[in-house]
Amino acid sequence: MLTALGLMSGTSADGVSVAAARIGDRKLRMLAYRTFPYPRALRERILAARDARTRELSALHSELGRFFAAAARKVIRKGRVDVIGSHGQTVWHAPARHTLQIGEASFIAEATGVTTVCDFRPADVAAGGQGAPLVPYFDWYLFGGRPAVLLNLGGIANLGCPAKTLARTTGFDTGPGNCLIDEAMRIAYRKEYDEGGRVAASGRIDLKLLGRLDHPYFRKPPPKSTGRELFSRDFLLERCGKDLRRRPADVVATLAYLTARTVADAVARHAPTGTQELIVSGGGGLNRTTMSHLEWMVWPLAVRPLEVFGIPALAKEPAAFALLAAEAVRGAPANAPAVTGAGRPAVLGKIVPGANFRGLMGRLHR
Ligand SMILES: Nc1ncnc2c1ncn2[C@@H]1O[C@H](COP(=O)(O)OP(=O)(O)O)[C@@H](O)[C@H]1O
Ligand SMILES: [Mg+2]
Repeated sequence: MLTALGLMSGTSADGVSVAAARIGDRKLRMLAYRTFPYPRALRERILAARDARTRELSALHSELGRFFAAAARKVIRKGRVDVIGSHGQTVWHAPARHTLQIGEASFIAEATGVTTVCDFRPADVAAGGQGAPLVPYFDWYLFGGRPAVLLNLGGIANLGCPAKTLARTTGFDTGPGNCLIDEAMRIAYRKEYDEGGRVAASGRIDLKLLGRLDHPYFRKPPPKSTGRELFSRDFLLERCGKDLRRRPADVVATLAYLTARTVADAVARHAPTGTQELIVSGGGGLNRTTMSHLEWMVWPLAVRPLEVFGIPALAKEPAAFALLAAEAVRGAPANAPAVTGAGRPAVLGKIVPGANFRGLMGRLHR
């Protein structure tokens, strides 16, 4: 058994979510969970990082590392943690070619004294994979063999189809989760997101607009992963910039529908026969409009929040990186080759030794 802490800062750049869990033998017990929202200025810098100069990127790398370290310390307080997994903030993801997550992990190991694993994706890329998605390993670990598929609605939406064996576990990014909705809200309403999906509920779904938002990515067979490189502000402005000025609520309504439609199509095409439920996590689960579309679209599957399994909506991804960190220090492979397309199972991550390193290695590798 290991007590692990995970930190995740997703494509939404809304903040860093932190979860602590006891991990052992295909079981996970949540101990703590908290999200630390980024101050607006920091969020703006993260969102601008893809076009930043090297100097700014280097500065942000350190600043995020310090922010993560402070968040980790606040969650740990007096508890004891064996290992930390920090996903970092993706600033670029070119599937199967290169991928960069920032947020210097040395600050976390220094501030907490806990050995910290970071940079989980490059090892999978080096093994011939997309480097993403990595969360289906968590889906398999906890739900493998259950007739369920798992959906995380973050900035990007991804689906995990856990089989009995890891080798047969599949999963991929379906396309946008909240990222286009968030962009539209920022541009038209100066809001960070569509609270509860209320703006979407007030607008009308426009099928012509929906057609213009179509992209070959949706029909591409897995393995596949995507990010804000594709579903960007430019993508949104190019396809519906004019409408966004004239009738923003209709655009937001259509984007909420697009998310549900592309997820439901992916479920119809790829969920194994016999699947009975869709287990939803991520901030997008709080968008009632997207969720009510999704509920009828995937019928007769039952749509359940991950929360009913004791894991809060925003705690799944950090909990997944807590698990991946535990696997890394055990030296256990933690990619799902059928998901990422990697040629082989790979041990993921880079280890930054903390004050507990010798003790931890002694305990694990006696
Ligand atoms: N109350 C809410 N109503 C609607 N959408 C929400 C709500 N809370 C969060 N979200 C959406 O969830 C996003 C954050 O979800 P998260 O799972 O952290 O995504 P990521 O992994 O990309 O950071 C926000 O940017 C927003 O779009
Ligand atoms: Mg987030």
